[in-house]
Amino acid sequence: MKLFVYHTPESTPNDQVPECAIAVDVLRATSTIATVLAAGGEAVQVFSDLDQLIEVSETWPSEKRLRAGERGGAKVAGFELGNSPLDCTPELVQGRRLFISTTNGTRALQRVQDSPNVLAAALINRAAIVQYLLDKQPEIVWIVGSGWEGSFSLEDTVCAGAIAHSIVQHTQLPPEKLAGNDEVISAIALYSQWQNNLLELFHQASHGQRLLRLDCQADLKYCSQTDILDVLPIQREMGVLKSQKINS
Ligand code: MLT
Repeated sequence: MKLFVYHTPESTPNDQVPECAIAVDVLRATSTIATVLAAGGEAVQVFSDLDQLIEVSETWPSEKRLRAGERGGAKVAGFELGNSPLDCTPELVQGRRLFISTTNGTRALQRVQDSPNVLAAALINRAAIVQYLLDKQPEIVWIVGSGWEGSFSLEDTVCAGAIAHSIVQHTQLPPEKLAGNDEVISAIALYSQWQNNLLELFHQASHGQRLLRLDCQADLKYCSQTDILDVLPIQREMGVLKSQKINS
């Protein structure tokens, strides 16, 4: 297995498709996706365009759907939900499909959607992602951070580092054997430095600060937890992620 970390969707090569692509948007889209699927949501369908989301979701029975729209960290007017994972309780999401569009996270998923194996990772489901990689041993894996409008974000890179660090621990591979690019080594270093203080790192991150200004302290705290959800969000059809049992 060779692992490549890309800090943003824009920095991924556009003439290649990896065997496995992992989109990361810790604050907060992939944390929300993992939470919805762990809480019994039927699926999560992602859109970059809000109008297209409305159009497609209209074809779905109203009692079986939820619509979430976020721009700049805030809920889009007229949508039932914004992008807070804490709103996605089992009572609300069970058996329903979440149609979601966010500023960066859903774009990252769409950027890698041609890979045969697309996963959504956050810190909260890191262990499930690592287990999948150890079981399936894909040859080339990309971890793609969502960043913020084209630039690097600390929280996505620290999650990439958490995944890489765990693979190194499980396989005993030297990091330079696993790493396909230097970003992997730097992501591991970032995670090694902050692993016991991820919430503090989120408070320093620019998007963490944006969310704090929007009064989302509880979201930061929730998203900074590691390995709390045993859920593997995997793309089943273009743009549609479902939960896969580990080892299946
Ligand atoms: C995004 O897609 O940029 C984020 O998930 C924004 C957010 O925190 O809602």
